[in-house]
Amino acid sequence: MNHIARLAELYLNLMERVLLGVIYEDPPIDQWSGGVYNPVLRAKDRDWPAKAHTMIGFERLRNLRVLMSHVIGDQVPGDFVETGVWRGGACIYMRAMLKALGIVDRKIWVADSFAGLPTPDSVRYPSQDQGDLHHTFKALAVSLETVQENFRKYDLLDEQVRFLKGWFKDTLPDAPIDRIAILRLDGDMYSSTMDALQALGHKVSPGGFIIVDDFGAVEGCRRAIQDYRREKGIDEPMQDIDGIGAFWRVSASACSSSHGVGINLDAQLPGQVPRRSVEGEQAAA
Ligand SMILES: C[S@@+](CC[C@H](N)C(=O)[O-])C[C@H]1O[C@@H](n2cnc3c(N)ncnc32)[C@H](O)[C@@H]1O
Repeated sequence: MNHIARLAELYLNLMERVLLGVIYEDPPIDQWSGGVYNPVLRAKDRDWPAKAHTMIGFERLRNLRVLMSHVIGDQVPGDFVETGVWRGGACIYMRAMLKALGIVDRKIWVADSFAGLPTPDSVRYPSQDQGDLHHTFKALAVSLETVQENFRKYDLLDEQVRFLKGWFKDTLPDAPIDRIAILRLDGDMYSSTMDALQALGHKVSPGGFIIVDDFGAVEGCRRAIQDYRREKGIDEPMQDIDGIGAFWRVSASACSSSHGVGINLDAQLPGQVPRRSVEGEQAAA
């Protein structure tokens, strides 16, 4: 590795630690992790940090880096999208990676209500989100201005970052996104996961990835993924990240158009990413 590549790696390593609040041992604000900073919980997204800019944990941030390296290395066309950004940390990290690699022809799309999660929609989803309480968590509502300010703090707010403000069902279907290399779903609920997939899933390039932040943690999210994959006949295996997050790689046959030339869809992912399938998912999907 030359020293420029090494510097980029060190920059991203430091970004991870800052974005996660590891440096100053930012304590959690959720009601289940005891109010005391615990590096093990932080690494696996088992807590909500008080001030840090992402809650997705070290393993899922690192997974994002590995998958981004993979699509960039394979020249998989498209932008990077997260639906459900909270304080923006995962998107800030993706922007940092593009910056570190000098990539100027891809964008980061930052989609959120910037007002928390919606109340369950009993008309469009009569039973799927019944009783879901995510909308009551005020800590999940972070304004657009705050998220933009967070990007600015890292000197990463520029024209390569685009914001989509509003409910996914309203903003995503007509979003001016052409192709997607990585779609990162982090909307927690069945409706939020399904709305994002229905609007954007077909735009993910062959060789691109769909990451599901809450696959192993939130039943509604998991069911939305299973329903979507069944409906579309998707049988690429779900790969586990850390016991909660999971992803699959989009194959040429699952996409309406193919940009597949030169993309090795069977390539093993480097290091960090466990290749085991998520237990039980295949039978259910
Ligand atoms: C768990 S947080 C995302 C965490 C974030 N990815 C991170 O890096 O820490 C969930 C986010 O999804 C957003 N959200 C969920 N459902 C939504 C919907 N249907 N429309 C718009 N935003 C939604 C919420 O506002 C919240 O910011």
